[in-house]
Amino acid sequence: MNIDIITIFPEFFDAFLHTSIIKRGIEDGFLNIKTHQLRDYSSLKHNRIDDTPYGGGAGMLMMFPPFYEAIKTLKKQHTKIIMTSPQGQLFDQKKATELAREEHIIVLCGHYEGIDARVEDLIDEEISIGNYVLTGGEMPAMIMVDAISRLVPGVIHEDSSETDSLQKGWLKYPQYTKPENYEGYRVPDILLSGHHQNIEMWRKEQSIRRTLSKRPDLLGEIKLTEEEKKILKRIQSEKQG
Ligand SMILES: C[S@@+](CC[C@H](N)C(=O)[O-])C[C@H]1O[C@@H](n2cnc3c(N)ncnc32)[C@H](O)[C@@H]1O
Repeated sequence: MNIDIITIFPEFFDAFLHTSIIKRGIEDGFLNIKTHQLRDYSSLKHNRIDDTPYGGGAGMLMMFPPFYEAIKTLKKQHTKIIMTSPQGQLFDQKKATELAREEHIIVLCGHYEGIDARVEDLIDEEISIGNYVLTGGEMPAMIMVDAISRLVPGVIHEDSSETDSLQKGWLKYPQYTKPENYEGYRVPDILLSGHHQNIEMWRKEQSIRRTLSKRPDLLGEIKLTEEEKKILKRIQSEKQG
């Protein structure tokens, strides 16, 4: 997976790209993530990249030409260009999974009042990470790149991302590690039983219970298997009775 991030603050990404799983993914060759200083694509004095908006109004706007030049330089035959923006479609696990299949992604980070609207003609998608306004697109870019990267084959153990919350719609079952008992806080006996089939069944049920209690809104989007329907019915009748 190749990702190019265009920003006026490449230093934002220093720790992100040099820590933990993302660092290892890069070192092992599964991820090729580069930041690009937008100012390097400005032809103006002092590498200026912003100006006041036409028509008046508060704040500075990022200019179109530096983005145009950066995209022209970095774009390849199969490139998906994403602009971070609070006006975009909301980012979620489904979008991360879809983007993890791309060959090459360019992410544009806005700042100040945002980017000259002509850039919308150059992008494929406008993505928001939530219904709030941040000062810049750097954190949204990191959030998206992180979520996408862990779905790129090889970056983490595939079993792990397959059973992650939201990947198949459900929240993940509760997990525990050593010690078995701490001050009376015990790990459920079933997990110590060594009976893999029973553990699998327990986990499935716990996933459903968690989703029902924490995020019932997700249920409408999940295509239930026959087994899941039965478990759900049992839990719901338990609650009623
Ligand atoms: C202060 S915001 C600009 C907001 C713009 N004036 C508006 O009202 O739509 C500056 C930049 O931060 C980024 N940004 C802010 N909130 C975001 C969000 N929720 N999701 C993704 N990017 C966001 C975008 O790159 C945006 O260009």
